[in-house]
Amino acid sequence: MTSPGPRTDYEQIAPDYDRDRQEYDSFDDELAALLAGALNAAEAAGAPRLLADVGCGTGTLLSRFEQDSCDAYQWKTVGFDPSRKMLSVAKGKVFSGALAAAAAERLPLRDGSAGCVLSTFAFHHFHDFAAFLAQARRVLAPGGRLLLRNILPREGPEPLMYRFFPGAREIDSRRFPLRAPLLESLVAGGFVLEQSICTERLYRFTAERYLELCRKRTISQLHLLIDENFRRGMAAIESYGREHSGEMLEERIPVHTFVAARA
Ligand SMILES: C[S@@+](CC[C@H](N)C(=O)[O-])C[C@H]1O[C@@H](n2cnc3c(N)ncnc32)[C@H](O)[C@@H]1O
Repeated sequence: MTSPGPRTDYEQIAPDYDRDRQEYDSFDDELAALLAGALNAAEAAGAPRLLADVGCGTGTLLSRFEQDSCDAYQWKTVGFDPSRKMLSVAKGKVFSGALAAAAAERLPLRDGSAGCVLSTFAFHHFHDFAAFLAQARRVLAPGGRLLLRNILPREGPEPLMYRFFPGAREIDSRRFPLRAPLLESLVAGGFVLEQSICTERLYRFTAERYLELCRKRTISQLHLLIDENFRRGMAAIESYGREHSGEMLEERIPVHTFVAARA
């Protein structure tokens, strides 16, 4: 799976990214529990206690891991992201872990030096998913764990965004895989799938809040839409707000999390 076409410019998005993610939490109790299991399993297999977050963005996961459980696990952490501006926001939140500018396709870690590679809501941005898997396998020691979390909008209910911005559907169809080929690529990449969990999240927005969320275009689909289609979608939300005053917009998003062991 490679992702051709225009790319989201996170240098531009970085200043507003966290503010616009208040509703969309990357790190929740489910992820904390899966991560704990992955770290314990990797440790039991004798893998080094280094956790690498690939496409770490503004450091949401690493900072939460640091606050909640880093002491308990005594793992070192490192976050990689190609966007220096996303990393500079992360620097204000991640205090004990390292952060470095690097892409998923070329991780600056020695062979077998990590016990866990984590990546959340990021792989649809990678230029080459197979190259990322090859890198994850290379840097993980035997028995190390790969933990991936993302939406798969081509499966299940359509994102609310498609209703107002139909061009976003086409953008996503180029970037997101279907679940079955994703799992096949994990196996082909030298991983054994251990857990595959899908949890539906329900979001409710007033039209005003949804407009506010979309306005800065920090959601990558909106960033990639041509301006005219973006303006048309914003006008459609405004008109919805006028015609359905007081009604909430609802969105169901299945979030997929996969844990795989390095074979
Ligand atoms: C939607 S953000 C997710 C950030 C974070 N993981 C989270 O859950 O909040 C996607 C991130 O992927 C990063 N990214 C884009 N291309 C990448 C690549 N080739 N390798 C690694 N990260 C990449 C972007 O810079 C951005 O910070």
